[in-house]
Amino acid sequence: MAEEKTLLSVLHGEARKIPPLWLMRQAGRYLPEYRDLRATTTSFLDFCYSPKKAAEATLQPIRRFHFDAAILFSDILVVPDAMGQRVSFESGEGPRLAPIETPEQAERLGAFKIEHLAPVFEAIELVKTALPPDVAFIGFCGAPFTVASYMIAGQGTPDQAPARLFAYRFPRAFAQLIDRVVEASIDYLARQIEAGVEVVQIFDSWAGVLPAAEFMRWSAAAVRRIVEGVKARHPQTPVIAFVRGADAHLPMLTRTIGADAYGIDTALDPAWAVAQTAADVVLQGNLDPLALVAGGEALDREVDSILAAFDGRPHIFNLGHGILQQTPIENVERLVARVRGTGG
Ligand code: CP3
Repeated sequence: MAEEKTLLSVLHGEARKIPPLWLMRQAGRYLPEYRDLRATTTSFLDFCYSPKKAAEATLQPIRRFHFDAAILFSDILVVPDAMGQRVSFESGEGPRLAPIETPEQAERLGAFKIEHLAPVFEAIELVKTALPPDVAFIGFCGAPFTVASYMIAGQGTPDQAPARLFAYRFPRAFAQLIDRVVEASIDYLARQIEAGVEVVQIFDSWAGVLPAAEFMRWSAAAVRRIVEGVKARHPQTPVIAFVRGADAHLPMLTRTIGADAYGIDTALDPAWAVAQTAADVVLQGNLDPLALVAGGEALDREVDSILAAFDGRPHIFNLGHGILQQTPIENVERLVARVRGTGG
């Protein structure tokens, strides 16, 4: 069965002439059917916690584009929400949490209550019964540094300054917070796997701002611990680590983290990534989301150069970061046809 799914075969080390294709944030606001479904629930987290709606949002991009993988529709911030640090999303403004400004406030966080996330596992079970047999199913969590950066700032920030300051001022308290997110994430991913996802991805969207020593401690080491924890419970489940901004740290990550594949972001030169990592390292990426917005010949050119750079390597075609809301549907269709050699 597994061999039918090209994503799984590549995660097991096979190089395919036509790489499996999925897009980070492939369910979402660029899809009219998502906007219609989303309009039926005011609060974004209530939407995530509605198993039928979350399952439907997961399946929408599969129906439209027949990607090689579905990614669970949810959010990385359900983890702090399940620790009692309630999360809300202001429309157009992103997430809001009560910020953590002192070690005392960090200590007051509640235990991670996995039952709070029961609707997520229910959504997974619904998706599992509806997925076409050749489509792999990906679960996910945020990496500890990225999640902690929202927990501390209480919102998105351009440079994660609040979390970085907290880490310099209160290294013990920050380490404890990272530990709590590591433990919660292992439990959360293990439960997603038990409910039916076949692959998990860890998103470290903000690690790229860290100086080298901080990067090792708060990003690389924490992601490695999650990989180890998941593998201890589910040794067969492939793990993808997407450390955005890993840059020159990528070769070190591929030698030390123990993931089955590494996502690379838009800024990284694929030829460099291929040359600097061992031939059996599986890489995922890294089309510029703006090339997908632009479309046309610029898109074709970028797609072709990525395909050429990864030729002969086990490669998963993806964006270098999440799809943008203003992406035209026809450009996604053009991308799929170009990657699969069925048009364009
Ligand atoms: O990939 C998918 O299609 C699955 C769903 C998914 C969402 N968020 C849905 C979502 C995934 C994998 C995420 C991950 C996520 N969430 C990350 C890491 C990946 C990345 O892009 O860097 C981060 C940093 C978050 C936190 C988050 N969630 C922010 C900053 C925001 C607001 C900004 C924005 O893009 O709107 C969200 C909200 C969110 N998560 C939306 C969606 C579809 C939009 C809200 C809505 O539809 O009302």
